This record gives sequence, structure tokens and C-alpha cells, in this order.
Amino acid sequence: MAKSELRPATIAAQAHGAIDEATRAVVPPVHVSTTYLRDADGGYRSGRVYGRADNPSFDAPEATLNALESGAGCLTFASGMAAATAVFQTLQPGDHVVAPKVMYWALRHWLATTADRLGIVVSFVDASDPDALAAAIRPGLTKLLWIETPANPTWSITDIARAAEIAHGAGARLAVDNTVPTPLLTRPIELGADLVMHSATKYLNGHSDVVAGALITAERDEHWARITAHRALNGAILGSFEAWLLLRGMRTLALRVQRASQSALTVAERLTSHPAIREVLYPGLPSHPGHAIAARQMSGGFGGMLSIRIDGDAKAAHAVAAATRLWKPATSLGGVESLIEHRASIEGPGSPAPDDLLRLSLGIEDVDDLTADLVQALESSV
Ligand SMILES: Cc1ncc(COP(=O)(O)O)c(C=O)c1O
Repeated sequence: MAKSELRPATIAAQAHGAIDEATRAVVPPVHVSTTYLRDADGGYRSGRVYGRADNPSFDAPEATLNALESGAGCLTFASGMAAATAVFQTLQPGDHVVAPKVMYWALRHWLATTADRLGIVVSFVDASDPDALAAAIRPGLTKLLWIETPANPTWSITDIARAAEIAHGAGARLAVDNTVPTPLLTRPIELGADLVMHSATKYLNGHSDVVAGALITAERDEHWARITAHRALNGAILGSFEAWLLLRGMRTLALRVQRASQSALTVAERLTSHPAIREVLYPGLPSHPGHAIAARQMSGGFGGMLSIRIDGDAKAAHAVAAATRLWKPATSLGGVESLIEHRASIEGPGSPAPDDLLRLSLGIEDVDDLTADLVQALESSV
């Protein structure tokens, strides 16, 4: 698919033009049928056979996300992890993968503990350093570079265009976890990526009430065909109602992401000089090491996620999270309600999160209320 002439906010609000042709309803219905009628000659001219592979409820969310990411195809999955692991499960035994040291912890854990059972060899590198990415390539063996930017939980930045050059120079492909910036702020395929992955559980759905994942491809190539077959056979599909909720959530993506992003910058700027804070990690701050690259490859903001390092130990950080009244101490991100979380204790050994780090996911509440609540929590507990 070529890049849409429409801007992301328009594509999202109108669900890429989805309506129900049969009823003229402006909201597509939820399709619950698990099976489809055969034609008299035994064929399936409808193109749909069975609910594990075919579900019209996926059409509108997949088309919308595909248009948002300037892709050539999109598949939704039962979760972000189901989408991400589908990419690795459809590589060949012996393939080598380069992945970041700083990335969503459960996928890093899966790669470190499970990928070798599939015969896949993984090298973990500092993906914010293009020289480290290039040095990790094993000529002839490296088939995939996986990156996440801004990356959980330090929000380190990888130069997507540079990573694509490195991957393509080695005959490998580049996959980008675009969960945090969303296509509102970064469109990796336009920067050279081959695959984009989302935990649609986060900003795309945006209301903390659906677990979902998605992959978008730049080309309908052989790897995409294997991924499509894998989803149908492996069965990690989205439910019909979840697909409908995901589409409903995506319609307000632009408003939510813009708001969260503006608020994250405001909170980052206000907290930088607070005496109870050692450091604010946010790519929108000029002091962040990835700021210049983020400014180049993100447009319209730096995202709704930041981390703060408390001037104290893990106990002090937990105390701050517990002392907030508005911020919910909970895992996840990208919902309308703001969340605060001590990452090291959830990620466990191997986490790049220091003990004093609290991860903040900005919701859409009033930013003055959010800042005041954080300041009272810091002042009452550090
Ligand atoms: C950046 C990122 N990628 C992937 C995932 C995994 O997605 P899911 O929880 O939908 O399986 C998450 C979940 O927190 C995430 O934050």
C-alpha cells in the first residue's frame, strides 16, 4: 500500500472509511460466526472458511492500522507477545537475530530463554549505538534486526533509518516495536523498516480493556506468508468483540496520544529540577542522549512515557508510587488513566532498570493535577 494521502488523525477517526455496506451503519458490526457457507460446487467464493483463519471483525481494525503505518498488510493477534513471537517463530532454524539489551522485558526474556529451542541464535546489543548494531551482524546468518524505540524503560532511542540500512546491507530485515510512539508519532515503514509490531493493548486500544497485538508488513513477501499461515494454524487470534473494541479505541488515537505526549513533556520539564529526583528520562528533553535522533524520526511529540529516578533506593521508589493518589500503581501503559510503576521489581534479574526508577505512563487527565499529585507523593515519602 502506498502512503495514504490522509493524515493519521483522519484515518484513525474514520476507521479508514469503514462502514457496514449491508446496513449503511457508520460503525461496523461485530461478526461472531465461526464458520462460513460453502458454495454449491464446494468452493468458498466468499473467501472465508473458518473463524480461526478468517473473521470479518478483523477487517476494519487491520485496514485502519495498515493505513496508519503505510503498510502492505496487517494482521491482528491475541496479544502483543503473540504478534512478536510470530515473527521469530517463522524464522528458520540457524537464523541469527540481533535484539536490543533495552526492550520490553517479557519479549527479551522469551528471546533469552525460548528462541534457542527453535534453533534461533540471538545477540543482545546496545541498539542506541549503530556501530554496535553493525558489529553484531553475522554475515549470511543474520536474518532479523529487532528494535524498540523509545525503548522500555529508559526510553533509549534507535535511529530507525540507520538500523534499516544496516539490516538491508546484510540481507536481513528490520522489525520495529512501535507500541510506545504509535503511528501518530513514528512510522517505521516510511523510514525503511520491513515489519512493525504493536502491543495494541496499549495506545491503539487506549482504554486498558483489551489485550491485543498486531503486525504490519512493508511487503507481502515470503516471510509475511509464513506469518499469515502461522496465525491461522497457531490460533493466537483476537476475539470478535476485542477487535471491535480495538477499532473503537483507535478512533480517538490522535487525541489521546497528543494529550499524553504533551503532558509527558510538561511533567518531565517540571520534575527535572525537583530535589527528590536524580534524573528524568524522557527523549523530549534536550538532555536525553537520544533527543536529536528522536526529534528527527518522531513528529508531533516524543510520546507519553517517561521514567524518573528517585534520589533514594528501591524502598523509597516504592514509597513514592504508593503515596500517589491519582496515579495508579499498576503495570502496562497507554491507557487514559496515568500509571506509575517500579520496573526493576517486575522485570527481575537482567533488567536495565535501576532500583530507583519509576516508570510513568501519562493518561489524559489534567496535567496540573498529575504534577501536583507526584510532587505531594515525592515530598511525603523521600
Ligand atoms: C513495548 C511493548 N511491546 C510489547 C508488549 C507485549 O504486549 P502484550 O502485553 O499485549 O502481549 C508490551 C506490553 O507491555 C510492551 O509494552
